Amino acid sequence: MEFHQKHLLDIEHLSTADIQTILDTTESMAEISTREVKKVPTLRGKTIINLFFEASTRTRSSFELAAKRLSADLINFSQSSSSVIKGETLRDTVLNLEAMNPDALIIRHASSGAAYYLTTFCRSHVINAGDGSHEHPTQALLDAFTIRQEKKNFKGLRVVIAGDILHSRVAKSNIFCLQKLGAQVVLCGPPTLLPAEFKSLGPEIFYDFDTALEGADVVMMLRIQLERMQKNFFPSLREYRNLYCLTPQRFKLAKKNAIIMHPGPMNRGVEISAEVADSAKSVILKQVENGVSVRMAVLYLLLGGKDHEAAD
Ligand code: CP
Repeated sequence: MEFHQKHLLDIEHLSTADIQTILDTTESMAEISTREVKKVPTLRGKTIINLFFEASTRTRSSFELAAKRLSADLINFSQSSSSVIKGETLRDTVLNLEAMNPDALIIRHASSGAAYYLTTFCRSHVINAGDGSHEHPTQALLDAFTIRQEKKNFKGLRVVIAGDILHSRVAKSNIFCLQKLGAQVVLCGPPTLLPAEFKSLGPEIFYDFDTALEGADVVMMLRIQLERMQKNFFPSLREYRNLYCLTPQRFKLAKKNAIIMHPGPMNRGVEISAEVADSAKSVILKQVENGVSVRMAVLYLLLGGKDHEAAD
């Protein structure tokens, strides 16, 4: 199994073979999490720092669990209890943490390109846990792993991604990942949150949700990212809900065996009804479970894989 990346910054620049390697490695990692003792010594002696400059429930805790299941030491850094609030720059903060000799830095930041920026002055492996509205590579990988579990292969699959596409790093990583794997990606949202330029990345674009849902194998809902909006992109949440909320009635337009996904956090009653989110067709908590295994695979391939020294 070959993997020659030093960092995981995005999906756009990964090859299809790299993505397949991560998904195949995830299968072995998933088995570890089913054991009574969920721990292997693979990354013993490695030190990882979780650098989260934005809030997170799933990504931060699953990277921490992933590191611990591989026996690495992980410490959590949070902006609110650090010297960032005293004015320390990102570069100085990271240089000081790197002086403590970690092996990997996992970063979530509100600025697109923050993870790449770290690679320009750090020697550690850098993993992007979400940078602004750019990419969220491990989310797309766990989504792909979940789809593969449910649908077996990607060829001919129609995956509808609906909601606030403009601000979504999850949408961008998924567009790259799913198309590289052979799926047909369909984007849907109001025109203000789905600029026509997205067509140049390959997906079909729909502004009418009912039309987009016809024949869907996978429906992936995204929340409205109010925290990244400096102006009004739609008249009111009520109008948005009327046009773009995934309700049980709308979901009937998708294929009979279609599945429902959401990266979280969900806003129940806005982009997805509670009934749909909790239905038997929902794999939302399966996505969260798979997040640990995918992140174990990523840590293993970057820090512990046989060929990682050659990537330096
Ligand atoms: N999907 C996702 O990134 O969730 P968190 O913001 O909770 O990490």
